[in-house]
Amino acid sequence: MDVPVGTAVFTEKKWKGLKKAEIICLDYSEDMLDKAKDRLSYYDNISFVQGDVGKLPFEDASFDTVLSMNGFHAFPDKKKAFLETNRVLKKGGSFIGCFYIKGKSKRTDWLVRRILTKKGWFTPPFLTEESLRNALHKLYSEVECHIDGSMAFFKCKK
Ligand SMILES: C[S@@+](CC[C@H](N)C(=O)[O-])C[C@H]1O[C@@H](n2cnc3c(N)ncnc32)[C@H](O)[C@@H]1O
Repeated sequence: MDVPVGTAVFTEKKWKGLKKAEIICLDYSEDMLDKAKDRLSYYDNISFVQGDVGKLPFEDASFDTVLSMNGFHAFPDKKKAFLETNRVLKKGGSFIGCFYIKGKSKRTDWLVRRILTKKGWFTPPFLTEESLRNALHKLYSEVECHIDGSMAFFKCKK
């Protein structure tokens, strides 16, 4: 599952190359999902679901991999998003992603607070490196987390 897929601008090439995988692209916004469909709807193994990451319409342990790029800084209920992405993963499955964390760059934090949040693209409260590491370690047996500037990149195993 790619959640949130957005317009699929970053994942289009990857998903097109995985012809044997069953891929579900989920986003809350119909507009974003329509753009993702324009890029990927020729592929029978890729499907699109409008939904909320905080209430995923899937059974427990349905996915081998959940990818979440640039989503958690936009999600309004981050705790539910962590729980739901974990719930739908199979044991041994991978949770991979990246997003903005607060407290690493004054300039970026200013931009996020004064512009991106006001535009509605980012939604506080934001995670810090510490709160992200705590959240991942509570839910996953293996956690790799790398910080580059204000971005956190992680790969976890359930
Ligand atoms: C910055 S985009 C990231 C999209 C894509 N992964 C990327 O990196 O380009 C953030 C997306 O989160 C979606 N979003 C926000 N809240 C959501 C929610 N509760 N459930 C699912 N998607 C949500 C927005 O609609 C938007 O498409």
